[in-house]
Amino acid sequence: MAVFFVLAVCALVSVALVSYVHYASRQRRKGQAGYGHEQEVLKLPPGSMGWPYLGETLQLYSQDPNVFFASKQKRYGEIFKTHILGCPCVMLASPEAARFVLVKQANLFKPTYPRSKERMIGPSALFFHQGDYHLRIRKLVQGALGPDAMRALLPDVEAAVQSTLASWDGRVTSTFHAMKKLSFDVGIVTIFGGHLDERRKAELRMNYSIVEKGYNSFPNSLPGTLYYKAIQARRRLHGVLCEIMQERRARCEPGTDLLGCLMQAQGDDGAPLLTDEQVADNIIGVLFAAQDTTASVLTWIVKYLHDQPKLLEAVRAEHAAIRETNDGGRLPLTWAQTRSMVLTHRVILESLRMASIISFTFREAVADVEYKGFLIPKGWKVMPLFRNIHHNPDYFPDPQKFDPSRFKVAPRPNTFMPFGNGVHACPGNELAKLEMLVLIHHLVTGYRWEVVGSSDEVEYSPFPVPKHGLPVKLWREKNTMNFKSCETGNVEDIIV
Ligand code: HEM
Repeated sequence: MAVFFVLAVCALVSVALVSYVHYASRQRRKGQAGYGHEQEVLKLPPGSMGWPYLGETLQLYSQDPNVFFASKQKRYGEIFKTHILGCPCVMLASPEAARFVLVKQANLFKPTYPRSKERMIGPSALFFHQGDYHLRIRKLVQGALGPDAMRALLPDVEAAVQSTLASWDGRVTSTFHAMKKLSFDVGIVTIFGGHLDERRKAELRMNYSIVEKGYNSFPNSLPGTLYYKAIQARRRLHGVLCEIMQERRARCEPGTDLLGCLMQAQGDDGAPLLTDEQVADNIIGVLFAAQDTTASVLTWIVKYLHDQPKLLEAVRAEHAAIRETNDGGRLPLTWAQTRSMVLTHRVILESLRMASIISFTFREAVADVEYKGFLIPKGWKVMPLFRNIHHNPDYFPDPQKFDPSRFKVAPRPNTFMPFGNGVHACPGNELAKLEMLVLIHHLVTGYRWEVVGSSDEVEYSPFPVPKHGLPVKLWREKNTMNFKSCETGNVEDIIV
């Protein structure tokens, strides 16, 4: 038995070596001789492809992925090749290259996701598509998340924030957990308006949380596995969404929220643009895109403010002034007030930069493409590295320092892309920022908090968040007179 095992291992290793030699020589031929391009010989970018099939996946996952990307950039420059997760890739760490792929030549690079993820979210969700279908859905989603819609949503966002903080009062809770609940509630109100009954909400929440648990698991359809359970829960989610659509149709009230916009959209011939299946895929897609992203950034904001008492004091002063105008917090926030939070807005931008929770995105070259004399072969994955750009000292001096004042001046074009860029850039960015502004307002004017345990380690869920989701004890400040507004009229005077 042991001999058989050793022979089997030897055979596997030999096959792997032969394939590697074959693969490497093919790559060398491609890299050296290059592809003819108007008599020019194009080379592949510098870099290393690692082991056959495995590539450099183990190196990527055996360390902080950001260290992997940063060390590659240091060694090879702003464009380099590697092989991860079974795919040859070109990574791009310069603003111009990111713009080339996401904006200028976006038609040459299509979005690409593993089939298992597409199946889990729904293949008709907009982020898997390009061209006309993508543009039409995107217009609808952007409309439902535009400035007028945000203005109308403000009271609901404020109510969700107040309820989240009230249920945290006096307890130690994982900040990430609390923020996930908040961003889910805001996602629900954005999609379904304020009208969804509690039973439906609970059904959506329960099934969505099972889908989430299976999303990053190994795609194995055997009963009992996380993936299998997630696919079942996804089916139930789809069922609930179809029932909600039927109920709305029966009442002849499709609604003006995101669901209503998608249900009522018409094609050029006047027929419904989307089937119920396509609407459901897009609703699940938006819920998915909205939740963990926003929750991760909110968690980092709580940490950054906690870690910098002087900055917190200045932010508090900005909000105490607003609270005073609002009759000591008895009146709701107005839209104009959310637009006036200058320092807080900079804190949000700096948190987005520092945390860079979406470190990179994936595209796939649909043809051989030349970029700065290098060949990006058709079928290769292309990854603009947002985090590397956000942490490059040429664009953001002293990049590891949390310094909101750097945003007094607008960043250089294409150097700040927390919400992506081009045709697939995030349509939910204003909603995410509104949640952050409102959360910060109520947090700093009504509460104090302390981090429990160490918060310097990072975990990936899959976005980076402080370890254990940042456990925090939060309590209501009884005497809000302790929170002084700034008398000089300039909150930044508080920061020395
Ligand atoms: C801080 C929170 C958020 C961050 C950092 C973020 C980031 C991003 C990024 C980087 C992309 C582009 C991905 C790519 O180019 O491959 C994206 C796309 C997207 N985001 Fe967000 N997002 C956030 C919140 C939201 C919210 C609240 C919503 C919806 C309510 C949302 C909905 C979407 C959708 C639908 C797309 C796909 C757009 C398309 O393919 O055309 N996101 N997001």
